[in-house]
Amino acid sequence: MRNLLVTGGCGFIGSNLLRYLLTESSFEGRIINVDALTYAGNPLSVADLAIRGDGRYIFEQADISDAEVMGRIFDDYQIDSVCHLAAESHVDRSISGPAPFIHTNILGTYVLLEQARARQDQIVRFHHVSTDEVFGSLGEEGYFTEQTAYQPSSPYSASKASSDHLVRAYHVTYGLPVTITTCSNNYGPYQFPEKLLPLMLLNATAGAALPVYGDGQNVRDWLYVGDHCSAIWRVMTAGALGETYNVGGYAERNNLELVQQLCELLDEELGPLPGGGPRRDLITFVKDRPGHDLRYAIDASKIQRELGWSSEESLESGLLRTLRWYQANANWVEQVQSGAYREWIGRHYGVDSTDHREGEDS
Ligand code: NAD
Ligand code: DAU
Repeated sequence: MRNLLVTGGCGFIGSNLLRYLLTESSFEGRIINVDALTYAGNPLSVADLAIRGDGRYIFEQADISDAEVMGRIFDDYQIDSVCHLAAESHVDRSISGPAPFIHTNILGTYVLLEQARARQDQIVRFHHVSTDEVFGSLGEEGYFTEQTAYQPSSPYSASKASSDHLVRAYHVTYGLPVTITTCSNNYGPYQFPEKLLPLMLLNATAGAALPVYGDGQNVRDWLYVGDHCSAIWRVMTAGALGETYNVGGYAERNNLELVQQLCELLDEELGPLPGGGPRRDLITFVKDRPGHDLRYAIDASKIQRELGWSSEESLESGLLRTLRWYQANANWVEQVQSGAYREWIGRHYGVDSTDHREGEDS
């Protein structure tokens, strides 16, 4: 892998992955980051890489669904490997408007696969970053394995499932050298604050309401983003072609437990709220997400057994690192919380502010 195309490198996981590849991993080649800079893509998240990347980092603003532009990029940079992360990634947005999810997640993936197929002699790896949401919902017991049947619930997860099927089909039909990772919920630096963890972290810091959907009993399996990055690289370098690997941190929490844990951590780190009360008092139960999956839990034994990967960060240490990062990066927070962010939060929770206290029914 000399010329690696990374898509979605200005997003949450993408920006962490670029930093990991350029500064911590064994990768010695060049990275071409293609990102359309949607609301979720932020040049600030990769601002240090032009320097830290030591001339090995290149940025191209482009839509992965644009076949002509993508063909030009594959040729200009002699792309020999792909790590595909670009996607519309937020379930709530897919419920209010599925169209961009179909465009980017399905059509965009198809365009990339076609570009790779057209240059198959030079492509050594096409890695596709996917999600445990493709498996649908678990009950109280059990885990998702690589053999679990796909049963996506939301337009987001259905679009990711479609892209996974396409990627696998290009391996089976055309012999494209693909690998896929299906990962659980990530958290960490540079995550856009529409997602549960940064939204709660920033609201609890500011003393604003903490909107928990439904009864807060839905369970997610949390993984620090740095662990996801090392897993992706492990699969890209050692994973068997055509194979899928589940990635997870064995850190299940229901949403209420997680938000309460975060509140306690913030109380310890920042002291109580100005009024003197604990932050957990800010928790507000709001209308549930339609089609809300009850529980996700990943069986990560295959990647552990076959590739020797396991997560390093505990949820406790990862939450503290994340909290400290958001405190130290007020500029980044301020920038992403302006404009489109406020508009979306306002529409989604029914108020024009990050304070949801006047939001939907409790
Ligand atoms: P994100 O929303 O933070 O970032 C997505 C990036 O893709 C943004 O930089 C955006 O500008 C870019 N993008 C969107 N549409 C594009 C297009 N048409 N062309 C080029 N770039 C485009 O997402 P994330 O949370 O970093 O997720 C990255 C990938 O990992 C996604 O494929 C997602 O499905 C997957 N994933 C995410 C998680 C998670 O917990 N966040 C877990 C498992 C898998
Ligand atoms: O499992 C992997 C997936 O994790 C990724 O594929 C997605 O890209 C990523 O967004 C994430 O999806 P979730 O829907 O699980 O994440 P989100 O942060 O949106 O929500 C986590 C849980 O918290 C979920 O049960 C819904 C709930 N929630 C979320 C928000 C934003 C709330 O209770 N209140 C909120 O305000």
